[in-house]
Amino acid sequence: MEEKIKEIKKILKKMLSESRLKHIMGVAYTAKMLADKYNIEEERVEIAALGHDLFRDVKPYKFLKIARVYGIDISYVEKKHPILLHGKIAAEYLKREYNIPEDVYEAIYYHTSGYKFFGTVGKIIFISDSIEPTREYENVEYYRELAFYNLEKAYKEILKNKVIYALKKNHFLLPDTVEAWNYNI
Ligand SMILES: [Fe+2]
Ligand SMILES: [Fe+2]
Repeated sequence: MEEKIKEIKKILKKMLSESRLKHIMGVAYTAKMLADKYNIEEERVEIAALGHDLFRDVKPYKFLKIARVYGIDISYVEKKHPILLHGKIAAEYLKREYNIPEDVYEAIYYHTSGYKFFGTVGKIIFISDSIEPTREYENVEYYRELAFYNLEKAYKEILKNKVIYALKKNHFLLPDTVEAWNYNI
């Protein structure tokens, strides 16, 4: 896995802006600490963290085309906002190129929406994406602390916060987010 990590880091530098790289390194840092806390292999979450936003700076008009090539089902919301496909595309790419384990694949695939069947790796990535050191928003400190003593609760609370934020802003809700919420309450 160490070789895979090195290679992915090289691709990251080619594909992403400076600020995005900072975010990704922040997610990897946070995810590794959570992995230690919850007895998960560090390398597993590191690959997921490094890979999750790999396609985030690709021009959105390319997403629909790539998604079709990968055979990803494109929802109505994703058709309108192709950038939402960046996680699914990254997961498919990394599965093909690096044969990543299933839980790492799921963590990347669903990191934008959340997922009703997330395992610990998925939850760690989802949470780390929201609490890594460069994130700044109301109550982020609360989520940062919560993540280290109750992973389940942190996952639910962050999911809830995302739903509330989306509704307040009159944004859409992703179907997988709604399912994750319904399944986890
Ligand atoms: Fe993302
Ligand atoms: Fe991210």
